[in-house]
Amino acid sequence: MDKQLFEEVDKYISRLLANEDQVLKDVITSLDQAGLPQFSVSPSQGKLLQVFAAMCGAKNILELGTLGGYSTIWLARTLPDAGKLITIEFDDRCADVAEKNLAAANLQSKVSVRRGKALDVLPLLQNENAGPFDLIFIDADKPPYTEYFQWALKLSRPGSIIICDNVIREGMVLEENHPDEKVRGVQRFNNFLSACTEVNATILPTVGMKEFDGMAICVKI
Ligand SMILES: C[S@@+](CC[C@H](N)C(=O)[O-])C[C@H]1O[C@@H](n2cnc3c(N)ncnc32)[C@H](O)[C@@H]1O
Repeated sequence: MDKQLFEEVDKYISRLLANEDQVLKDVITSLDQAGLPQFSVSPSQGKLLQVFAAMCGAKNILELGTLGGYSTIWLARTLPDAGKLITIEFDDRCADVAEKNLAAANLQSKVSVRRGKALDVLPLLQNENAGPFDLIFIDADKPPYTEYFQWALKLSRPGSIIICDNVIREGMVLEENHPDEKVRGVQRFNNFLSACTEVNATILPTVGMKEFDGMAICVKI
């Protein structure tokens, strides 16, 4: 089995169950237009996030790492009328693009983009009593993943779902003393997760149109 087959199967799943509407397609175009990287989750991953949000009846969602708002839109579309999603983004160019995309998706009343480094914004959210969040999606820079996860534990409640993307990195996590700080960041996180008694967790390998990777899926005990 090769990458091409995984891509074809991913497209097949997307055609069946994760069809992008024009708003989501426009988010992808908006990234190219703004010279931003195509680091959004894939359609089937966006749908997976949405299914998790629906499964736990999420009313209050937190996301770390907005980019153009692609995963944000998948997640926010399951929110009830009074539901809220906070997404944290430190790059103003991304936040500007995301806010336009969220307005195009008619989600501006439910979603707020908080600008700043996640480790600066998270304590503010705690002070504002913004939690507990029903679902937290961690998809920002990789070196502080352990610290992001520790914050997610603080800002959640028993039953909350915490999802952390890109924790396998094409299998590079298997290599000890890897020179890449992103790989080392997720290795440190994966080890922390392994010893964490506050969650029931697993890692779901992800194959398809994006690089071979994995999502940590956790439920707070
Ligand atoms: C992988 S992209 C997010 C993709 C998005 N979740 C999606 O699937 O559509 C990571 C984002 O995290 C942002 N980021 C990086 N470091 C950050 C930090 N310290 N705090 C907040 N955001 C950060 C980047 O600017 C980038 O937009």
